[in-house]
Amino acid sequence: MRMVDIIAKKRDGGELTTEEIQFLVDGYTDGTIPDYQMSAWAMAVLFRGMTARETADLTLAMAGSGEQLDLSSLEGIKVDKHSTGGVGDKTTLVVAPLVAAAGIPVAKMSGRGLGYSGGTIDKLESFRGFQVERTREQFLQQVRDIGVSVIGQSGNLTPADKKLYALRDVTATVEAVPLIASSIMSKKIAAGADAILLDVKVGKGAFMKNLEEAETLAKAMVAIGSQVGRKTVAVISDMNQPLGFAVGNALEVKEAVETLAGRGPKDLTELVLSIGSRMLVLGGLVSNVEEGRGKLEELMASGKAVDKLAEMVEAQGGDKADVYDLSRLPQANIIHEFVAKQDGYVEAIDAEAVGHASVVLGAGRLTKEMPIDLAVGFVLHKKRGDQVRAGETLVTIHANDEKLLQSALEELEDAYTISTEIPAAQPLIYKIVEA
Ligand code: URA
Repeated sequence: MRMVDIIAKKRDGGELTTEEIQFLVDGYTDGTIPDYQMSAWAMAVLFRGMTARETADLTLAMAGSGEQLDLSSLEGIKVDKHSTGGVGDKTTLVVAPLVAAAGIPVAKMSGRGLGYSGGTIDKLESFRGFQVERTREQFLQQVRDIGVSVIGQSGNLTPADKKLYALRDVTATVEAVPLIASSIMSKKIAAGADAILLDVKVGKGAFMKNLEEAETLAKAMVAIGSQVGRKTVAVISDMNQPLGFAVGNALEVKEAVETLAGRGPKDLTELVLSIGSRMLVLGGLVSNVEEGRGKLEELMASGKAVDKLAEMVEAQGGDKADVYDLSRLPQANIIHEFVAKQDGYVEAIDAEAVGHASVVLGAGRLTKEMPIDLAVGFVLHKKRGDQVRAGETLVTIHANDEKLLQSALEELEDAYTISTEIPAAQPLIYKIVEA
């Protein structure tokens, strides 16, 4: 087989065989296929697309390109959850202990934040002493013992995807839907998932800017799931404005704990219940979403969901007292109120702008190596549709540096749009995509 023939076949709109796809993934992983040929192929895919079968083959080949996590020693159906990323998205912090409290084993690998999009692993480090690096055996044993562990991505999982994603980033081929879908799904499959719940974010603060794109991606991933025997459900949810009120690591942890206790913001609570209940269905614990919701609401009200998070924090080296006394989490020195300049209604809060402002403040990183400040961030007081009066606080800023605070304020200025008209309501959840 020759890579040049495979590139030409795709360039001319042909369908690659399973063997051809395996050949190119193997060759790219071991370095016998160079970047320039892989780039040409990725560009051909961008223009020509891939069939569902080709996409599934690519996913499995990439999942098998490195180490794969074997979760078969854990009882039950292992349901993984993935978000395509957004601003204020602390859903995993709530959903993981919540569904674990219901009896679904959660052995989850999460990422760090990059750019304006935050990461679960950074947020968890707000608990002093919390270990995100665990050996495989520690990780699995913890799930056996208490039902849940969330750790950083470790080991040599999906090296083909790592290389290809970096290449796509610099060859203007990130946008190819089959490549995005196979990239995400290969990582979930290598991480051992039996079933997958995808939270596909759509809007200004998301990778997918409009509903049509988000739906195309969601359908592509659900189709891969069907092809490779992993039940997959996608929830398409709003990321035009930040999720919940808190943006910033420790601030988001506090909001997540409040949400686990049933006192969270309406939008975050609704999303968590929607995602969590579908995970219970995928895990075979309940027969329908309504039953799942009821179970999860009970776990929130009884305090069992918060207790599960406390168990996880303790098992991973943190102090569970932090979960019950949130004032022990990292606190910023400077508290500044960002106020409305005029009366009116909040027409929009640009999630991307809020995300950028949080990076400026130190809550996020622009390069993988940048240190972050866990204490800083924003607490929004007004969300889309809320009425405001001039002088009223829109956002409380938690900062540790006056200069960074001023720069963040400049970014925030552009984030809020206040109008005299009540804006039309926008849904939190646009669509559920199932096989
Ligand atoms: N996220 C991924 O993991 N892969 C992509 O290709 C795009 C977003």
